[in-house]
Amino acid sequence: MSLKKNSLRLTGTKICVLLTVFLGFGCGAKPTSTDQKNSAGHHSGRDLQKHLDAPNRDAWQKPKEVLLAIGSLENKKVMDIGAGTGYFSYKLLDAGAEVIAADTDDYFIELLTTRSRERARNSKALEIRKVPVDSPELKEGEVDVVLLVDTYHHIDNRQAYFKKVARGLKEGGQLVIVDYKKDSFLNEGPPREMRLTPENVVDELTTAGFVDFDIRTELLPKQYLIKAYKKTSKRVSGTAFMKEYWNENYAKEAYMFGTEPDGYFAAQLNKFQPGRLLLPAEGEGRNAVYAASLGWNVTAYDYSVEAKQKALRLAKKHGVTIDYEVQDAIHATYPKESFDMVGFLFVHFEGDERVMIHEKLDSHLKKGGILVLENFSTEHPKYNKQGPQKESLLYAKETILKDFSNYEILDLTVTHEVLHEGSKEPFECSVLRFVGRKK
Ligand SMILES: C[S@@+](CC[C@H](N)C(=O)[O-])C[C@H]1O[C@@H](n2cnc3c(N)ncnc32)[C@H](O)[C@@H]1O
Repeated sequence: MSLKKNSLRLTGTKICVLLTVFLGFGCGAKPTSTDQKNSAGHHSGRDLQKHLDAPNRDAWQKPKEVLLAIGSLENKKVMDIGAGTGYFSYKLLDAGAEVIAADTDDYFIELLTTRSRERARNSKALEIRKVPVDSPELKEGEVDVVLLVDTYHHIDNRQAYFKKVARGLKEGGQLVIVDYKKDSFLNEGPPREMRLTPENVVDELTTAGFVDFDIRTELLPKQYLIKAYKKTSKRVSGTAFMKEYWNENYAKEAYMFGTEPDGYFAAQLNKFQPGRLLLPAEGEGRNAVYAASLGWNVTAYDYSVEAKQKALRLAKKHGVTIDYEVQDAIHATYPKESFDMVGFLFVHFEGDERVMIHEKLDSHLKKGGILVLENFSTEHPKYNKQGPQKESLLYAKETILKDFSNYEILDLTVTHEVLHEGSKEPFECSVLRFVGRKK
């Protein structure tokens, strides 16, 4: 937690500022004693420990919500930078992640080591790493997630530092920053001049090589949470060139596909007992919100940041909760066999990419789980010159029979329809509809 420990030793003013940050003391509250504690070494760590392990911390830090916002942690490798007493490191470990608890401070490194011994933690899953102030010392592509809680604002020369963080992340890996809001709870936490707005953070991280910022200012009372992704050199999905188009359209007030669920999908939802539902490329949330209102536990994603904002607004309006991540379908991973239903609606990939994404849908679904797929069929161009036209993007029954041969077919039809979606004109089309039960 104390990445500026070295600078703590430099000047009395800085010491006061930093202790204010950690302890929530007003500057001058206990200047002499805190200065003495710092120059004496480990005492500051002990004071910090009290703050970091404070019994009331859960109430405002909301660790469960933070972990949920990070997304699936199972089999992911996470570095917790500024781990401090391990408040988040152990929770990440309990959520199934492999964790590197990193800190600059000897006091916390010792504390983490003792705690891990006492708690008989699985040493393979938890590594305690002392790092210098100017580097996370990650190997190239070492981790899936880097988390910094109340630590970002302590780092000097952030552009250089976060370039190193980006290098240490795997392709498509994510960075999660939790830090203090600029203008609230000023009587505790860091002084206002040390705080950064989410916009400041986004600007800095953009220059360090991050993209697709997902900013949550309402999740926690005192802090914002920002998720960002490493700009990837890896091939992006074939639909990446459309991302800007989707973002621009979703940024508009009106819901492009409306706020009512897709009729076919809604009918399927009503036939099965609610459980865990995954909605890849979910767009503005029409299906997710409807499913949640029926009692489904919904996880959705889309590569459009604007889609997520809109979906969350819709969820709020309907008083339901959905878990929504911003990510490209080719990078999306969830634990194997963890969903009762997967809905893949109006999403078109081609070639090997489609096969690979179909394999993912299958792997995420439990045995006995239901896959609902509705996409434009190879007949579609006969009815409409809008929407996908290339045969390789469209669906024929043979594709389903080949890619989902391990499914009991509950419905497989190609049908001519007129869709009524949002503010759009009625849309004549041909769709392929598939409902299958995984054997
Ligand atoms: C036609 S919309 C359908 C949205 C939603 N499934 C529905 O039926 O309302 C297609 C969606 O796919 C998303 N999308 C396209 N390519 C994607 C990719 N590679 N990864 C994640 N989402 C993608 C777009 O952002 C868009 O929201």
